[in-house]
Amino acid sequence: MSDTNDRSSAAPPKGQYDVARIPPRSLRGRLCPDTFTLDGAVYTLEKHLKHDFFASTARYRGDHGRRVCLKHFHTESCLLIPLGWAGRYMCNREIGFYRHLADVEGVPALVGKLGESGMVHEWIEGCDLLDYAQDARMGRPERRVADDFFDRLDQLALTLHQRDVAYVDLNKPDNVLVGDDGRPYLVDFQISYRRPRRRWNLLGRWLFGVLCREDLYHVRKLKRKFRRDLMTDHELRRSYQRSFLLSFHRQFAHPFQRVRRWVLTKLGAR
Ligand SMILES: Nc1ncnc2c1ncn2[C@@H]1O[C@H](COP(=O)(O)OP(=O)(O)OP(=O)(O)O)[C@@H](O)[C@H]1O
Ligand SMILES: [Mg+2]
Repeated sequence: MSDTNDRSSAAPPKGQYDVARIPPRSLRGRLCPDTFTLDGAVYTLEKHLKHDFFASTARYRGDHGRRVCLKHFHTESCLLIPLGWAGRYMCNREIGFYRHLADVEGVPALVGKLGESGMVHEWIEGCDLLDYAQDARMGRPERRVADDFFDRLDQLALTLHQRDVAYVDLNKPDNVLVGDDGRPYLVDFQISYRRPRRRWNLLGRWLFGVLCREDLYHVRKLKRKFRRDLMTDHELRRSYQRSFLLSFHRQFAHPFQRVRRWVLTKLGAR
């Protein structure tokens, strides 16, 4: 992460300052603004965190000292194709999940909506699991999450399922935050899935069940990666058991994803 991205004057306490993943140039969309005002408070940019085709994310500090995260969904056109509706839709959809899960411990509180496609939520002090994975590569001393971290993450996933939400994006370690309190937090509900309310929507309800099982599979997989030492032989074996859908997805989607990634990288959008 380059220093120019970090505008805070205080020395960084830990890995949270290392999460900037900004491609050299972007296909569309502006970076998050230097300042914004929400509910009478003025927030000043501390650091850009992520910028891609769909959204920009950054950390801010309010004039009252509170830290928040702004995820600003792009509404600019691409190749003359108007995409404002997509940015607004994605923003409202993700806000809907934060509202629905407002009372769930482990989901940052929503602070508010900014403009037509900005979502502001509470900043969680800590870092994400990708930072842990990158410790060795960056020459930092290795850290370990607490022994009960993955039990708590498993419980958090189950709580979301009880609230009719399949998280779906647990294969990305950067979506799992490790708070300074040692507890897991989940951000990024962009592709999460709500259980269809209509009983006759059998396909949707079946899909919800499959996605919930995938969430738990990914928790076991993350545990294997980060705290294998805590797993019994039985748990380890289970962590390799993929569902039919995931095996199918891997078989057919991976080549497609590789091409997509290559194209986006060439365009500087990743
Ligand atoms: N509330 C928060 N507290 C602390 N860190 C956060 C918070 N929200 C986001 N982050 C950090 O910012 C990163 C990017 O946020 P987010 O995942 O929402 O963006 P994204 O554009 O959807 O990313 P991607 O599509 O790659 O998953 C996260 O991986 C996490 O490290
Ligand atoms: Mg993410």
